[in-house]
Amino acid sequence: MITCRKEINALKAYVPGKPIDDAKKEYGLEEVIKLASNENPIGCSPKAIEAAKKSLETASVYPDGNCTLLRQCLANKLNVTEDSLVFGAGSDEVISLIATTFVGQGDEAITCTPTFSQYASAVRQIGGKMIEVPLVNHTYDLDGLLDKITDKTKALFISNPNNPTGTIITAKQQLDFISKVPKDVLIVFDEAYNEYIDDDIYPDTIPLLHNYDNIMILRTFSKIYGLASFRIGYGIAKPELIELINRVRGPFNVTTSAQAAALASIEDNHFKKTTVALNAQVKAFTYKKCEELGLDYIPSYGNFLMIDFKKPSLPFFEQLLKKGFIVRPGFYFGMDTYQRVTIGTMEQMERFFRIVSDLI
Ligand SMILES: Cc1ncc(COP(=O)(O)O)c(C=O)c1O
Repeated sequence: MITCRKEINALKAYVPGKPIDDAKKEYGLEEVIKLASNENPIGCSPKAIEAAKKSLETASVYPDGNCTLLRQCLANKLNVTEDSLVFGAGSDEVISLIATTFVGQGDEAITCTPTFSQYASAVRQIGGKMIEVPLVNHTYDLDGLLDKITDKTKALFISNPNNPTGTIITAKQQLDFISKVPKDVLIVFDEAYNEYIDDDIYPDTIPLLHNYDNIMILRTFSKIYGLASFRIGYGIAKPELIELINRVRGPFNVTTSAQAAALASIEDNHFKKTTVALNAQVKAFTYKKCEELGLDYIPSYGNFLMIDFKKPSLPFFEQLLKKGFIVRPGFYFGMDTYQRVTIGTMEQMERFFRIVSDLI
């Protein structure tokens, strides 16, 4: 009998949000709205689609493993050197690459809980130990993370803003924290939702790379740019760290279409601005609706919101599903009366709250 490595025995496969077509079939629905995976409700830039279509002309040729054009454009935009960037099939892949490169068997990494599940999964897969410190007030407990650092600690993972709670650590808290972390511990700041934030207290992490060698920043094209299906994200760090990661990265890990779509997206500022404005407007509406219905929520810096429906999350999730809405039950995050709801379009959220007010 084939057996797997003991680390794999202890893992569970990620349960993704239900696909729209599955939900339609299962419940005989004509329309299903997915508010489960923090995707962009208005899709992606038309320019990205155009560029991706054009890229199909070279479908038979392996992708540029260096992501050259995208690298040049992004380095320029972010004001970093080209060798400060590593691209992955989603930031998911970059998280795995970080764990494989820097965390060995028996080594430790630390994060808070609940947070994005891939940090723990990536670390455990390679035989590392993930230590999880509970959030305090739904926010990363930075002192709690510091307390857990030992000689075995290799990496700290911080989701900023945090998925699922949408809370942030501020620039001031971040600087204070970095100054207290030993220089041989890598600090990963996952900023998947940074573009949605317009608030001076939110950190500008990239300039810190000049002064600190142990920082890595993660970004993605899946959220604001609406390119989740292409699978493209990236990490930013000192070139010495990027060079180490490149030793384990697959040579052609980002498809040509993904590179083309990402490049075209960066250049479409109008689409990005439209998305940010829409998210702010619909989020304010969502807060208002929650307040009218007497539902508590955790104010969020992202494009998603944890809403406390004060009901066990799985049955309520099923009720919403039967009415054509897929959300993310709080059960997965150990917050069992909550649902994580992606901020959709105004029309989607109006319909959502009509259903919610009928159900509660
Ligand atoms: C905090 C955070 N990091 C990373 C990711 C993964 O993004 P990607 O699609 O780039 O793999 C997500 C996706 O939900 C996320 O919420």
